[in-house]
Amino acid sequence: MQIETERLLIEEAHADDRATIDGLVALFNSNPEFHRASGERVIWAAADLENYLADDPNPRYPDLESHEYTVRERATGLIVGTVELIAPIPSDRINWIALMMIQGDRQGAGLGSEVVAAIEHELFSAGWNEIRVFVHRDTVLAHQFWTGAGYQPIGEALSASGKPGMVLRKPRSAP
Ligand SMILES: CC(C)(COP(=O)(O)OP(=O)(O)OC[C@H]1O[C@@H](n2cnc3c(N)ncnc32)[C@H](O)[C@@H]1OP(=O)(O)O)[C@@H](O)C(=O)NCCC(=O)NCCS
Repeated sequence: MQIETERLLIEEAHADDRATIDGLVALFNSNPEFHRASGERVIWAAADLENYLADDPNPRYPDLESHEYTVRERATGLIVGTVELIAPIPSDRINWIALMMIQGDRQGAGLGSEVVAAIEHELFSAGWNEIRVFVHRDTVLAHQFWTGAGYQPIGEALSASGKPGMVLRKPRSAP
């Protein structure tokens, strides 16, 4: 999948591309508060990003198909975000946005909304029935972001690392 939006290029990321790894290291390290709230490592090295981009079956999700994308600014080619999509195998036609992140100093400028609108259009056009996200309890801005984008809470859950949060969903609207 490769998507162009007004300002962005969203394309699959590959672990063997050194420039991509370096860009993602900078991106991940620009969001320490988010990682702290998620119970994840706060400082990320190249090897951690190579693991993040590991090919399927991803050791983190053996029963899931996962795809990791870079979000580049078209004007500069710089990585300004990432988004990861995962879905169970066999498919239940529900796709999860497992991780989405915008460069720390570029947040609040509509880039995240541009990514989500493009991903929704792509997935719903391809026949997916629903998109879900898990939002950690302590990430208030993220919760506002997803509810603002039309995602509705459907229940509490624990993350893979045991942190409490909420699952939100957005179904494909009727044609
Ligand atoms: C959540 C995130 C992806 C949103 O992307 P973004 O480009 O900052 O969001 P946008 O500018 O498109 O949308 C802003 C809306 O989201 C909310 N928001 C979330 N984070 C925000 C931030 N850091 N600054 C300003 N608004 C933020 C606000 O409600 C805002 O609505 P408004 O514009 O009407 O005030 C981004 O802030 C981010 O990467 N945060 C850290 C990682 C994270 O929490 N990811 C979500 C995992 S569930």
